[in-house]
Amino acid sequence: MKQEKILIIGASGQIGSVLTHTLSDIYGENNVIATDIRQPTDHHGHFEILDVLNTQALGDIVAKYGITQIYHLAAILSAKGETMPMFAWQFNMTSFFNVIDVARQFKISKIFFPSSIAAFGPSTPKYNTPQATIMIPETVYGISKSCAEDWCNYFWLKEKMDIRSVRYPGIIGYQSLPGGGTTDYAVNIYHKAVKSEPFECFLKADTALPMIYMDDAIRATIELMEAPAENIKIRTSYNLASMSFSPQDIAESIKKQVPDFSISYNPDFRQAIAESWPASIDDSEARKDWGWRPNFDLDAMTADMLAHLSEMYSKEIVHH
Ligand code: SER
Repeated sequence: MKQEKILIIGASGQIGSVLTHTLSDIYGENNVIATDIRQPTDHHGHFEILDVLNTQALGDIVAKYGITQIYHLAAILSAKGETMPMFAWQFNMTSFFNVIDVARQFKISKIFFPSSIAAFGPSTPKYNTPQATIMIPETVYGISKSCAEDWCNYFWLKEKMDIRSVRYPGIIGYQSLPGGGTTDYAVNIYHKAVKSEPFECFLKADTALPMIYMDDAIRATIELMEAPAENIKIRTSYNLASMSFSPQDIAESIKKQVPDFSISYNPDFRQAIAESWPASIDDSEARKDWGWRPNFDLDAMTADMLAHLSEMYSKEIVHH
């Protein structure tokens, strides 16, 4: 079997930093090349600074390491994108097409490119959102993901390019911090709880969103990428679900373990973004095609988050 050489773009980000560790464990540190515009806080294997808008620089790294697979995780997320719409559009789409160009040029065998619940919009059925449904997203980030999903399908149809994708829910993990998203509150809330500080939430108490624990999100990504190509029937992006909860639900879950925890609500522009997204997702196609099953529910996630973060804060190894 050919030795895979894996390139991760966006490796210093919330998902990328964790995925880099997991892929290094599976494929060997020497076979995983982490890249980002930012230096990672702690990284042991190969790392290169890369501006993914620079096609030449991207191609040079692919050639230098003999890359066979690319995970393209760099993006401007929903909330930050609304503060700089044209830049978010240009960044998200140009980086995507640069990866496609380089993948074609260097005959990359597989690409992972995530989409998001942000690809849906207010006219999408809100509960148990089906795989194939009306989209019409209302954030630039969501528009870019929805468009790129269609391009993934197009490149599959025209060139049999093996691009795989899931529509990630909000992702919660102790290992890293999110940046610029609408679901970020669900990570920040645990940090406040562990520090015994009150939490002010930028969403209303009852705003339910689809979410997933980092361990499950990473496992879903790797299971999708390792599935036989003939099992991948959806070439836009798979719905992926685990749990759905509101700020009030997560606060109650935390209070079971941290009785003094207090939350207040001060919704801002992110409330409208959250309200335009589904509350829950039907992921039966992912379950059927490549055997997806989540492991963590809200209380299991809370227990694991609080345990890990308590340990990290006591050892002062939390990364900001
Ligand atoms: N977590 C992302 C965001 O909030 C959704 O993909 O923007």
